[in-house]
Amino acid sequence: MCGIIGYVGTDRGDDAIEVLLDGLSQLEYRGYDSAGIALADGGIAVHKREGELSALESTLSPERFDGDSIGIGHTRWSTHGPPSDANAHPHTDAEERVAVVHNGIIENYQSIRDELAAAGVAFRSETDTEVVPHLIAGFLDEGLDHEAAFRAAIDRLEGSYAIAAVFDGTETVYAVRNESPLVLGVGDDGHFLASDVPAFIEYTDRVIYLDDGQFARLTPAELVVTDGDGRELEPSIETISWDPDDAGKSGYDHYMRKEINEQPAALRECFRGRLDELSGRIDVPELDELGPVETVTFVACGTSYHAAMFGARLLREQGIPAHAFLASEFGADVVPIDSTSIVVGVTQSGETADTMRAIREANRAGATTVALTNVVGSSAARETDHVLYIRAGPEISVAATKTFASQQAALTMFAAAVTDRRSRDLVRELRAVPDRIQSILDTSSAREIAETYRGSGAYFFIGRGYHYPVALEGALKMKEITYEHAEGFAAGELKHGPLALVSEETPVFAVATGDGPLAEKTIGNVKEVEARGTPVVAVTDGRSDVGRYADHVLEVPATSPVASSIVANVQLQLVAYWTANELGRPIDKPRNLAKSVTVE
Ligand code: M6R
Repeated sequence: MCGIIGYVGTDRGDDAIEVLLDGLSQLEYRGYDSAGIALADGGIAVHKREGELSALESTLSPERFDGDSIGIGHTRWSTHGPPSDANAHPHTDAEERVAVVHNGIIENYQSIRDELAAAGVAFRSETDTEVVPHLIAGFLDEGLDHEAAFRAAIDRLEGSYAIAAVFDGTETVYAVRNESPLVLGVGDDGHFLASDVPAFIEYTDRVIYLDDGQFARLTPAELVVTDGDGRELEPSIETISWDPDDAGKSGYDHYMRKEINEQPAALRECFRGRLDELSGRIDVPELDELGPVETVTFVACGTSYHAAMFGARLLREQGIPAHAFLASEFGADVVPIDSTSIVVGVTQSGETADTMRAIREANRAGATTVALTNVVGSSAARETDHVLYIRAGPEISVAATKTFASQQAALTMFAAAVTDRRSRDLVRELRAVPDRIQSILDTSSAREIAETYRGSGAYFFIGRGYHYPVALEGALKMKEITYEHAEGFAAGELKHGPLALVSEETPVFAVATGDGPLAEKTIGNVKEVEARGTPVVAVTDGRSDVGRYADHVLEVPATSPVASSIVANVQLQLVAYWTANELGRPIDKPRNLAKSVTVE
């Protein structure tokens, strides 16, 4: 899961170096263990460095490249070979006739590498990607022109790839996509390609989403999309409605903080046109053709899996058997899928390899597939029968925050729509969620809690019912951005093992809202913990007396169990954020992680 960018500008266009570095800074969430660019005006000049983009930038003086108008760039998340200058992209052939950047995995690279090595090619990296420029060079030697050599090389590849290439001596960028995201940007003074729209949204809002198997040829004058046989296609150009500022930090220290604070707006957008307070109806036209829903299987990873657990519980409560599966564990041996099944892939990016594999398996089994995703034109959106967009806007921080809230909201609407449930109370509760979250953002004492408990031996999170996935999500957020040990448990499970771990050094965050039996039982669990001298932080709306047994309280406004799990989670996001901030962690780009995980 890397980020790629490409640009060809006209005489009036921007300098390629500027476009490439801007674009890579927007793509760093996709990988940041090395970065590189190749400029191709009068010979290929490759510059690449291990480390974050800033390491590459520190070696470049952009004035040197004033006037260069064509190039490609890459930000890497290692899959083959560790982070190093040599393994950084772009990769070239021996004579630097072609430079290539790649996102994805070339599954048959070893056999190609062996074949090329036997023919005398000396490899300079451990990457799967390096076979591509060498293959292209071989076809150039056979007399093929640039485009034909590029296509012939791609023909040899198996696996997932978005690849862009520039050649010495032409003003053209060639690109292809197969199972890895690639979007083209149509500008007035040049054309763009990238793994994701924010990379060039500053320059153009007109985009073309490439489909698997499609090629693109970008020159200053034209942008041509062709199919695998070279036939020209007429792709549709879509206009993106984001404000470029939406993809920037807007004055916040971290994207994560910005995205946490964007939740009220993101949720309003998610609800827009879908909630009818008068009738109590939740109208999701995207699901009108879904047909009868007998059982629902969710597949998802990480944070999206926690949202899927929440969605499955909602459906079960409304009488529809539903289960959430980790996409990486999903298969015919786990749950039978056939033409009567409905399989919902919950995926913010719409590109997660495990989730895409599960969706594809469900498609092959004849199931009706649904994508619940944030990214228009993503693989999940294109490869499923129905798409429900969560409309959270771009999320840059690796840690998912606003997309989790929007997934919970969209799943609540999904459950109501497929069961044709009408409830004015539910609609009212949902409509009020953005303001309730805003009140938490305005008043939360999470920062003080983070200061108090920073450096604890471990952090535990407990909850029941709809708060169980929230406990898991609170722990995931804490561990991924603070690097501290954190675990989430169903509150009732504590006494079956994890209780042995609690001590005076391990704060327990207990999520308990309302005054029903689940809150009462959670209080019982809190007492077990408190009796052992363990600090307790209650996340509560004050309707039960859980606060009495806690050392600290993080308040949430009183609302229904479903809505309160969306709202309560925000307090845990803030605790994780401020703890990571206290510990000086690189919050938006935690070590070893990437935003879009496009390998299984
Ligand atoms: O794009 P997806 O929602 O499919 O991503 C799945 C997980 O990789 C993701 O939710 C991950 O767990 C979060 N970024 C963690 O904050």
